[in-house]
Parts: sequence; C-alpha cells; structure tokens
Amino acid sequence: MHVLVTYHSRTESTEKLAGAIAAGARRVDGIDCVTKPVAEVVIEDVLAADWLIAGSPSYHGTMASEMKCLFDRVITGNREKTVGKVGAAFSPPVLRLRAQSR
Ligand SMILES: Cc1cc2nc3c(=O)[nH]c(=O)nc-3n(C[C@H](O)[C@H](O)[C@H](O)COP(=O)(O)O)c2cc1C
Repeated sequence: MHVLVTYHSRTESTEKLAGAIAAGARRVDGIDCVTKPVAEVVIEDVLAADWLIAGSPSYHGTMASEMKCLFDRVITGNREKTVGKVGAAFSPPVLRLRAQSR
C-alpha cells in the first residue's frame, strides 16, 4: 500500500503532525509512505497513492486554500480515478479566537 501524507504549514505545527503520522504509517508492514508539502504535490502523486492523508491548519474556520486547491485540481477530470482510495484528514489543535467587543 502506498500512502501519501501531504500538508500545508506555515509555522510547522501541521508539518510536525505529518511527520509523526508518516512515521507511524512506516511502522506497518507493507506500507510505503511519502510525505510532501501540498505545494509540491502533483496529480500523479495522488493517483499513485492508495491512501491520501491530508493535513491543514484551520484558516478562518476551514482548510487552507492551498489544500483546497489540491482537492479542486484532483477532482477536475480525475474523479473516477480516485474511487476506492482511502482518505483521512488532520489538523493541529485550534485556538479559540475571541471577538473583541468594546
Ligand atoms: C490566515 C490564518 C487564519 C487562521 N484562522 C484560524 C481560525 O479560524 N481558527 C483558529 O483556531 N486558528 C486560526 N489560525 C491559526 C492556525 O490555525 C494555527 O496557528 C495553526 O496551528 C497553524 O498551523 P501551522 O503551524 O502548521 O502553520 C489562523 C492562522 C492564519 C495564518
């Protein structure tokens, strides 16, 4: 089984989680795992993977645009080729952002 762990990270929290997930996956017999920043992922990387594990920080309550861009690129024209793949997602713990009222 080929696993692709991809992530977007500016300040390394998500990158560190990606590294830990990949290290865990590599301990399983028969798993071959590659880790890549999402900006470096090409469609062929996704199509070659049996499992896609994607990590993104929370940006304004959703995934980072860089990660959304990957899903948009993969789905456009390749949707059928992704059938049967296993997907998982992760995100670093979020902070509760408080609205400041005066
Ligand atoms: C543009 C931007 C938007 C963010 N929006 C949120 C948010 O809505 N909620 C939240 O809890 N954290 C938010 N954060 C904080 C990040 O999710 C958090 O710092 C995360 O751990 C950063 O991951 P990284 O270290 O992998 O870059 C935001 C950070 C940035 C840069």
